Amino acid sequence: MVSRAVGCSSHAVGVPDTGADSIAVAAEPESEPPSNGGGGRDQTVAIRRASPTDIAALVRVEAACFATDRVAARSFSRLVAAASADVLVRTVADAVIGYALVLYRDGTGVARLYSFAVAPAHRRRGHARALLAAAVDAAVKRRCRCVRLEVRVDNVESQALYAASGFRQIGRYRDYYEDHADALRFEKPLGPPPSAAATALLDAAAVHRCSTGLSAGGGRAAPWTA
Ligand SMILES: CC(C)(COP(=O)(O)OP(=O)(O)OC[C@H]1O[C@@H](n2cnc3c(N)ncnc32)[C@H](O)[C@@H]1OP(=O)(O)O)[C@@H](O)C(=O)NCCC(=O)NCCS
Repeated sequence: MVSRAVGCSSHAVGVPDTGADSIAVAAEPESEPPSNGGGGRDQTVAIRRASPTDIAALVRVEAACFATDRVAARSFSRLVAAASADVLVRTVADAVIGYALVLYRDGTGVARLYSFAVAPAHRRRGHARALLAAAVDAAVKRRCRCVRLEVRVDNVESQALYAASGFRQIGRYRDYYEDHADALRFEKPLGPPPSAAATALLDAAAVHRCSTGLSAGGGRAAPWTA
């Protein structure tokens, strides 16, 4: 287990509603390495919006990834239903193995990646990169002008991912975390918002991909194990 020392933020959540759009859903095959028991066989991976039935799995991911400042089950429940948040889950063979939590504040045009994690057993396979891209897509669909986040100064692996994904450092918060560590602030500009026509096309494509993913995934989610 790692400390929340590597978390995006330790601050409380709670922002006004902005109205919810649908989230693009992706499904693709993943080849599990033999060390994970997959023996090289393909397993369907996907990203979708979290539902109330995902809360227990989200809590398990949170417990496996953060020792302190965890997002509580009650908060996940509220956020999954909130119009001011996108909770996206990464699934492998229908089991939730990671998530990204994006918050929106009405009228600011700023999306905040509040938390972001992948279960230890599934790391270094590109799941975080995919979740980050989906979080950015969600912010684009909300017509945000940028995505911002905070990351511990010593969380160099996440910083490498952010830099490679178009984020740049815009500042630093001193004494930000419970243990007094500093946070670095990162931002990714999103450019001009898409036109209504482009948004409609994106929505149509998302519905198509969603249908494809559901039919390809098959079966009920397996029990999640850390
Ligand atoms: C950070 C975290 C989300 C990365 O998840 P992941 O699925 O293993 O990441 P990916 O496989 O998508 O890796 C994407 C990139 O991140 C960087 N990275 C991820 N893990 C790394 C590590 N252990 N060491 C160095 N770089 C790393 C690399 O640049 C990597 O690209 P590469 O594989 O081409 O080198 C995961 O380690 C985690 O949940 N950590 C605890 C919670 C946390 O820190 N959340 C982020 C808060 S801001």
